[in-house]
Amino acid sequence: MLEVRDLTKSFDGFVAVSGVTFGVPRGAISAIIGPNGAGKTTLFNLITGHLRPDRGHVTLNGRDVTHVAPHDLCRLGVGRSFQRTNIFPRLTVFENVQAAFICHRGGGWNLLAAGDGVHRDETAALLESVGLAGRAGEVAGFLSHGGQKQLELGLALALEPEILLLDEPTAGMSAAETRESIRLIERIVRERGLTLLFTEHDMEVVFSIAQRLTVLHQGRVIADGAPDEVRRDTEVRRVYLGERH
Ligand SMILES: Nc1ncnc2c1ncn2[C@@H]1O[C@H](COP(=O)(O)OP(=O)(O)O)[C@@H](O)[C@H]1O
Ligand SMILES: [Mg+2]
Repeated sequence: MLEVRDLTKSFDGFVAVSGVTFGVPRGAISAIIGPNGAGKTTLFNLITGHLRPDRGHVTLNGRDVTHVAPHDLCRLGVGRSFQRTNIFPRLTVFENVQAAFICHRGGGWNLLAAGDGVHRDETAALLESVGLAGRAGEVAGFLSHGGQKQLELGLALALEPEILLLDEPTAGMSAAETRESIRLIERIVRERGLTLLFTEHDMEVVFSIAQRLTVLHQGRVIADGAPDEVRRDTEVRRVYLGERH
Protein backbone atom coordinates (compact mmCIF):
# COMPACT_ATOMS: atom_id res chain seq x y z
CA MET A 1 0.00 0.00 0.00
CA LEU A 2 2.76 2.39 0.99
CA GLU A 3 6.21 2.20 -0.56
CA VAL A 4 9.22 4.23 0.44
CA ARG A 5 12.19 4.12 -1.88
CA ASP A 6 15.66 5.54 -1.25
CA LEU A 7 14.30 8.37 0.92
CA THR A 8 17.06 10.73 2.02
CA LYS A 9 17.12 13.96 4.01
CA SER A 10 19.98 16.07 5.36
CA PHE A 11 19.91 19.04 7.70
CA ASP A 12 22.94 21.31 7.12
CA GLY A 13 25.04 18.41 5.94
CA PHE A 14 23.89 16.04 8.71
CA VAL A 15 22.17 13.05 7.10
CA ALA A 16 19.12 12.28 9.28
CA VAL A 17 17.50 9.78 6.87
CA SER A 18 19.70 7.95 4.41
CA GLY A 19 18.51 5.82 1.48
CA VAL A 20 15.56 4.36 3.37
CA THR A 21 13.54 1.75 1.46
CA PHE A 22 10.67 -0.33 2.83
CA GLY A 23 7.03 -1.18 2.16
CA VAL A 24 3.84 -1.38 4.18
CA PRO A 25 1.37 -4.06 3.03
CA ARG A 26 -2.35 -3.21 3.13
CA GLY A 27 -4.01 -4.34 6.35
CA ALA A 28 -0.73 -5.00 8.16
CA ILE A 29 0.56 -3.53 11.40
CA SER A 30 4.11 -2.34 10.74
CA ALA A 31 6.54 -0.53 12.97
CA ILE A 32 9.67 1.53 12.56
CA ILE A 33 11.93 1.15 15.53
CA GLY A 34 15.18 2.78 16.47
CA PRO A 35 16.69 4.68 19.38
CA ASN A 36 16.15 8.41 19.86
CA GLY A 37 17.77 10.31 17.00
CA ALA A 38 17.58 7.36 14.60
CA GLY A 39 15.49 9.42 12.13
CA LYS A 40 11.99 8.05 12.79
CA THR A 41 10.16 11.37 13.07
CA THR A 42 12.05 12.80 10.10
CA LEU A 43 11.07 9.74 8.07
CA PHE A 44 7.40 10.24 9.04
CA ASN A 45 7.60 13.90 8.09
CA LEU A 46 9.03 12.93 4.70
CA ILE A 47 6.25 10.38 4.13
CA THR A 48 3.47 12.80 5.13
CA GLY A 49 4.77 15.76 3.11
CA HIS A 50 5.79 17.86 6.14
CA LEU A 51 9.38 17.73 4.88
CA ARG A 52 10.74 17.51 1.34
CA PRO A 53 13.23 14.73 0.71
CA ASP A 54 16.58 15.45 -0.94
CA ARG A 55 16.16 12.20 -2.82
CA GLY A 56 13.79 9.25 -3.11
CA HIS A 57 10.10 8.54 -3.54
CA VAL A 58 6.94 7.73 -1.62
CA THR A 59 4.19 5.77 -3.38
CA LEU A 60 0.67 5.27 -2.03
CA ASN A 61 -1.49 2.67 -3.78
CA GLY A 62 0.85 2.88 -6.76
CA ARG A 63 0.65 6.66 -7.03
CA ASP A 64 3.72 8.85 -6.53
CA VAL A 65 2.89 11.13 -3.57
CA THR A 66 6.43 12.35 -2.85
CA HIS A 67 5.61 16.02 -3.28
CA VAL A 68 1.98 15.98 -2.20
CA ALA A 69 1.19 18.47 0.61
CA PRO A 70 0.07 17.11 4.02
CA HIS A 71 -3.60 18.17 3.70
CA ASP A 72 -3.87 16.63 0.22
CA LEU A 73 -2.28 13.43 1.46
CA CYS A 74 -4.87 13.37 4.20
CA ARG A 75 -7.59 13.43 1.51
CA LEU A 76 -5.87 10.46 -0.10
CA GLY A 77 -6.39 8.50 3.11
CA VAL A 78 -3.24 9.07 5.16
CA GLY A 79 -3.90 9.97 8.80
CA ARG A 80 -1.15 10.76 11.26
CA SER A 81 -0.46 11.71 14.83
CA PHE A 82 2.52 13.61 16.16
CA GLN A 83 5.10 12.61 18.76
CA ARG A 84 4.20 15.75 20.67
CA THR A 85 0.48 16.22 20.88
CA ASN A 86 -1.31 18.35 18.37
CA ILE A 87 -4.63 19.04 20.10
CA PHE A 88 -6.45 22.34 20.70
CA PRO A 89 -5.70 22.70 24.43
CA ARG A 90 -8.45 25.20 25.23
CA LEU A 91 -11.29 23.37 23.54
CA THR A 92 -13.06 20.50 25.20
CA VAL A 93 -12.33 16.93 24.23
CA PHE A 94 -15.66 16.85 22.38
CA GLU A 95 -14.96 20.09 20.51
CA ASN A 96 -11.53 18.85 19.43
CA VAL A 97 -12.95 15.80 17.68
CA GLN A 98 -15.93 17.76 16.39
CA ALA A 99 -13.53 20.30 14.84
CA ALA A 100 -11.62 17.47 13.15
CA PHE A 101 -14.87 16.12 11.67
CA ILE A 102 -15.82 19.60 10.47
CA CYS A 103 -12.40 20.07 8.83
CA HIS A 104 -12.73 16.74 7.10
CA ARG A 105 -16.39 16.70 6.11
CA GLY A 106 -17.35 20.36 6.19
CA GLY A 107 -20.16 21.87 8.21
CA GLY A 108 -18.78 25.28 9.17
CA TRP A 109 -16.70 25.78 12.26
CA ASN A 110 -18.00 28.36 14.67
CA LEU A 111 -16.75 28.34 18.23
CA LEU A 112 -19.98 29.77 19.61
CA ALA A 113 -22.02 27.12 17.89
CA ALA A 114 -19.64 24.31 18.72
CA GLY A 115 -21.94 22.87 21.34
CA ASP A 116 -24.62 22.45 18.71
CA GLY A 117 -25.31 19.46 16.61
CA VAL A 118 -22.65 19.43 13.88
CA HIS A 119 -21.33 15.85 13.57
CA ARG A 120 -22.50 15.23 17.11
CA ASP A 121 -23.24 11.50 16.81
CA GLU A 122 -20.01 10.63 14.98
CA THR A 123 -18.05 12.63 17.54
CA ALA A 124 -19.68 10.80 20.45
CA ALA A 125 -19.12 7.41 18.78
CA LEU A 126 -15.47 8.15 18.11
CA LEU A 127 -14.87 9.33 21.68
CA GLU A 128 -16.42 6.09 22.88
CA SER A 129 -14.13 4.04 20.67
CA VAL A 130 -10.94 5.78 21.89
CA GLY A 131 -12.07 5.48 25.51
CA LEU A 132 -12.81 9.16 26.12
CA ALA A 133 -16.61 9.11 26.28
CA GLY A 134 -16.59 9.99 29.97
CA ARG A 135 -14.30 12.98 29.45
CA ALA A 136 -16.06 14.66 26.52
CA GLY A 137 -16.71 17.89 28.45
CA GLU A 138 -13.20 18.27 29.88
CA VAL A 139 -10.82 20.92 28.59
CA ALA A 140 -8.34 19.04 26.41
CA GLY A 141 -5.26 20.81 27.79
CA PHE A 142 -6.05 19.45 31.26
CA LEU A 143 -6.21 15.79 30.23
CA SER A 144 -3.43 13.52 31.47
CA HIS A 145 -0.63 12.83 29.00
CA GLY A 146 -2.18 9.45 28.19
CA GLY A 147 -5.59 11.07 27.70
CA GLN A 148 -4.10 13.58 25.28
CA LYS A 149 -2.55 10.75 23.28
CA GLN A 150 -5.97 9.03 23.12
CA LEU A 151 -7.44 12.30 21.90
CA GLU A 152 -4.75 12.61 19.24
CA LEU A 153 -5.67 9.17 18.02
CA GLY A 154 -9.30 10.31 17.87
CA LEU A 155 -8.33 13.37 15.82
CA ALA A 156 -6.42 11.23 13.33
CA LEU A 157 -9.36 8.81 13.07
CA ALA A 158 -11.88 11.60 12.49
CA LEU A 159 -10.16 12.15 9.15
CA GLU A 160 -11.24 8.60 8.18
CA PRO A 161 -7.83 7.41 7.00
CA GLU A 162 -7.08 4.13 5.25
CA ILE A 163 -3.58 4.13 6.63
CA LEU A 164 -2.72 5.49 10.05
CA LEU A 165 0.77 6.76 10.87
CA LEU A 166 1.40 7.12 14.59
CA ASP A 167 4.66 8.67 15.77
CA GLU A 168 5.57 7.15 19.15
CA PRO A 169 1.96 6.75 20.28
CA THR A 170 3.10 5.62 23.73
CA ALA A 171 5.82 8.25 24.28
CA GLY A 172 5.99 9.31 27.92
CA MET A 173 3.54 6.67 29.15
CA SER A 174 4.01 4.29 32.05
CA ALA A 175 4.37 0.58 31.28
CA ALA A 176 0.73 -0.04 32.24
CA GLU A 177 -0.55 2.89 30.16
CA THR A 178 1.58 1.69 27.26
CA ARG A 179 0.09 -1.82 27.31
CA GLU A 180 -3.43 -0.43 27.49
CA SER A 181 -2.78 2.06 24.73
CA ILE A 182 -1.28 -0.56 22.41
CA ARG A 183 -4.32 -2.79 22.97
CA LEU A 184 -6.62 0.12 22.17
CA ILE A 185 -4.75 0.93 18.97
CA GLU A 186 -4.74 -2.70 17.91
CA ARG A 187 -8.49 -3.05 18.49
CA ILE A 188 -9.31 0.12 16.56
CA VAL A 189 -7.07 -0.85 13.65
CA ARG A 190 -8.71 -4.28 13.41
CA GLU A 191 -12.28 -2.99 13.83
CA ARG A 192 -11.82 -0.40 11.12
CA GLY A 193 -9.72 -2.56 8.81
CA LEU A 194 -6.93 0.02 8.80
CA THR A 195 -3.30 -0.28 7.83
CA LEU A 196 -1.00 0.92 10.60
CA LEU A 197 2.57 2.20 10.56
CA PHE A 198 3.91 3.41 13.88
CA THR A 199 7.26 4.37 15.33
CA GLU A 200 8.56 3.28 18.69
CA HIS A 201 11.85 3.31 20.54
CA ASP A 202 10.97 0.47 22.95
CA MET A 203 11.42 -2.84 21.20
CA GLU A 204 9.25 -4.85 23.58
CA VAL A 205 6.21 -2.68 22.87
CA VAL A 206 6.63 -3.42 19.20
CA PHE A 207 6.92 -7.18 19.42
CA SER A 208 3.50 -7.47 21.02
CA ILE A 209 1.67 -5.94 18.07
CA ALA A 210 3.68 -5.49 14.85
CA GLN A 211 3.71 -8.02 12.01
CA ARG A 212 6.58 -6.27 10.27
CA LEU A 213 9.48 -4.25 11.62
CA THR A 214 11.91 -1.87 10.03
CA VAL A 215 14.88 -1.00 12.22
CA LEU A 216 16.51 2.40 11.75
CA HIS A 217 19.95 3.22 13.05
CA GLN A 218 21.61 6.58 12.35
CA GLY A 219 19.17 7.21 9.51
CA ARG A 220 19.68 3.86 7.78
CA VAL A 221 17.63 0.68 7.64
CA ILE A 222 19.67 -2.06 9.30
CA ALA A 223 16.97 -4.74 9.33
CA ASP A 224 13.51 -5.27 7.91
CA GLY A 225 11.14 -8.22 8.27
CA ALA A 226 9.04 -10.29 10.66
CA PRO A 227 9.63 -9.59 14.38
CA ASP A 228 11.32 -12.93 15.04
CA GLU A 229 13.78 -12.50 12.17
CA VAL A 230 14.58 -8.99 13.30
CA ARG A 231 15.05 -10.05 16.90
CA ARG A 232 17.63 -12.65 15.82
CA ASP A 233 19.48 -10.30 13.48
CA THR A 234 23.08 -9.91 14.63
CA GLU A 235 23.44 -6.28 13.64
CA VAL A 236 20.21 -5.36 15.43
CA ARG A 237 21.43 -7.13 18.56
CA ARG A 238 24.75 -5.33 18.36
CA VAL A 239 23.64 -1.76 17.67
CA TYR A 240 20.19 -1.75 19.16
CA LEU A 241 20.32 -4.11 22.09
CA GLY A 242 23.92 -3.15 22.88
CA GLU A 243 25.30 -6.68 22.66
CA ARG A 244 28.99 -7.17 21.96
CA HIS A 245 30.46 -9.82 19.71
N1 LIG B 1 14.85 20.26 11.59
C1 LIG B 1 16.01 19.69 11.94
N2 LIG B 1 17.17 20.37 11.84
C2 LIG B 1 18.36 19.79 12.18
N3 LIG B 1 18.48 18.53 12.64
C3 LIG B 1 17.35 17.81 12.76
C4 LIG B 1 16.06 18.34 12.43
N4 LIG B 1 15.13 17.37 12.65
C5 LIG B 1 15.80 16.30 13.11
N5 LIG B 1 17.13 16.55 13.17
C6 LIG B 1 18.17 15.61 13.59
O1 LIG B 1 17.99 14.41 12.85
C7 LIG B 1 18.22 13.28 13.66
C8 LIG B 1 17.00 12.39 13.65
O2 LIG B 1 15.95 13.02 14.40
P1 LIG B 1 14.51 12.42 14.50
O3 LIG B 1 13.99 12.14 13.15
O4 LIG B 1 13.71 13.31 15.36
O5 LIG B 1 14.81 11.03 15.25
P2 LIG B 1 13.84 10.09 16.11
O6 LIG B 1 12.44 10.48 15.82
O7 LIG B 1 14.20 8.71 15.68
O8 LIG B 1 14.21 10.32 17.54
C9 LIG B 1 18.58 13.79 15.05
O9 LIG B 1 19.99 13.80 15.18
C10 LIG B 1 18.03 15.19 15.05
O10 LIG B 1 18.76 16.03 15.90
MG1 LIG C 1 10.85 10.98 17.02
